[in-house]
Amino acid sequence: MKQLALIAIAVLAFSCKKESNESFGKPTETTTEVQTPEALGKEIFEGKGNCVACHQVDQKVIGPSIQEIAKIYKEKSGNMVNFLKGESEAIVDPEQFAVMQANLAITKTFSDEELKAVEAYINSNLK
Ligand code: HEC
Repeated sequence: MKQLALIAIAVLAFSCKKESNESFGKPTETTTEVQTPEALGKEIFEGKGNCVACHQVDQKVIGPSIQEIAKIYKEKSGNMVNFLKGESEAIVDPEQFAVMQANLAITKTFSDEELKAVEAYINSNLK
């Protein structure tokens, strides 16, 4: 539990830094046009989900890269939405799951539409 609290603090510190660098002052809704799932997923991934703190597109930072996740989910026909709901097990890097687990508290609050958008965004990075 103590470990989780530490991780949470690390994530929070990360998010503050990100916010001031990039998304500060950015309006949350720039347009009323209908978004593609990929675009919505990207917005969540880089915005309220703050997944970018640990997941970069093509390199491992704290977590596996987005491309790596997409590749393994494709190979193993995994269900990412279920994983993010806390309903299925980690298949990418199970040994590091404790680090990801704290984020499921966030992703569990996302709607199905949002989770599918995140999945679409991750998969759209597959080369
Ligand atoms: C504190 C760092 C951190 C943050 C923030 C984070 N992740 Fe992760 N994530 C990890 C680590 C480490 C792994 C590798 C462990 C694992 O596979 O579960 C991982 C794995 C994953 C996986 C693969 C799970 C599997 O089957 O193994 C997905 C999908 C994922 N993250 C999505 C997300 C999304 C979406 C967000 C934003 C809501 C997010 N992550 C935020 C660290 C993080």
